[in-house]
Amino acid sequence: MKAIMVTEPGKIGIIEKDMPSIQSANEVLIKIKAVGICGSDMHIYHGTNPMAVYPRVIGHEFVGEVVEIGSNVSSVKVGDPVSVEPIIYCGECYACRSGRQNVCEKLEVMGVHRDGGFQEYVVVPEKNAHKFDAHISWEEAVMIEPFTIAAQSTWRGDVRKDDYVFIMGAGPIGLCVLQYAKYKGAICIISDLDVDRLEIAKELGADYILNAGRVDVVKEVMEITKGMGANVTLDAVCITKTFEQAVEVTSVAGRIVVLGFGVEPSKIPQLPITKKELTIAGSRLQANKFPEVVELFNKKALNPKALISHRFKIDEIEKAIKLIETQEEKTCKVVLIF
Ligand SMILES: NC(=O)c1ccc[n+]([C@@H]2O[C@H](COP(=O)([O-])OP(=O)(O)OC[C@H]3O[C@@H](n4cnc5c(N)ncnc54)[C@H](O)[C@@H]3O)[C@@H](O)[C@H]2O)c1
Ligand SMILES: [Zn+2]
Ligand SMILES: [Zn+2]
Repeated sequence: MKAIMVTEPGKIGIIEKDMPSIQSANEVLIKIKAVGICGSDMHIYHGTNPMAVYPRVIGHEFVGEVVEIGSNVSSVKVGDPVSVEPIIYCGECYACRSGRQNVCEKLEVMGVHRDGGFQEYVVVPEKNAHKFDAHISWEEAVMIEPFTIAAQSTWRGDVRKDDYVFIMGAGPIGLCVLQYAKYKGAICIISDLDVDRLEIAKELGADYILNAGRVDVVKEVMEITKGMGANVTLDAVCITKTFEQAVEVTSVAGRIVVLGFGVEPSKIPQLPITKKELTIAGSRLQANKFPEVVELFNKKALNPKALISHRFKIDEIEKAIKLIETQEEKTCKVVLIF
């Protein structure tokens, strides 16, 4: 079968690989139909993801059809369309025992620590395969995984109805967070430097859009909220400056959620955190959010289609990567179709 492999940083290509087969009674064999290209796949390709191990079949946003099931499998059957939850965890460490298996001490992410979805077939444990309704197209279903990031981060930020929520960044993640926060009934302000992405945000229901290259976002959010500040600020830009702005712009009793993997320190004083009693939460991947997101997809409560900007066939991988590298601002979610 064909697979797309990053053999070492900067080198990607299609290889021939043996078909995987079911090894235990609780596994399922899936024929992959579509995968999304994510910023973190690009980081693995560029050699800037310290967690990646090479050579690697990348991809953690993938969906497909169940083609074979192990003898103990009961939640899915042959022919079912499924989205794959890409995390493997120990089930025993403190995080796992706390229902937070996304930060398991021994966490492995498919497409990062072990082979992922850029291949024709994959075998996963039954609990990682989440069935969705047949009316959802393969490319739309690719967005289930990015929306689980939004489910997790809005949960970490305890987004409530009528909260003022400030989303920094209108990339694929910021736009998923926006839709999720709107679904939860929040009033949403979103910033970006790119006017096209802000336009998409507006179409997806953003109450206020801010061009961070042209206006002082802290001042604008303060004005919109009549001096209160945002009750929840979610940083989907993830640079030192946005973290600093988040602490400044978040209201008393507010929550800040950071999603970044940067190692450069931000300059953040204790006073605003103590004085406003801010909660600052990290959000990584997701825990137990696939069923909730699949349910929202089944009900057509979210708009995944608006986030898909380009489609390529798998043998056009180099073309897809070139597009993202050279014209990133013109892309949103790029999907590979098998
Ligand atoms: N923690 C997690 O589980 C998780 C999962 C996925 C992605 N991420 C992280 O989330 C971030 C966003 O992901 P993405 O795929 O949407 O990335 P992206 O690069 O496509 O989007 C970032 C957006 O921020 C905008 N931007 C840049 N500087 C800005 C500023 N000063 N103010 C406002 N907007 C600004 C850019 O124009 C861009 O549209 C990345 O850092 C990624 O690593 C985290
Ligand atoms: Zn991703
Ligand atoms: Zn664990």
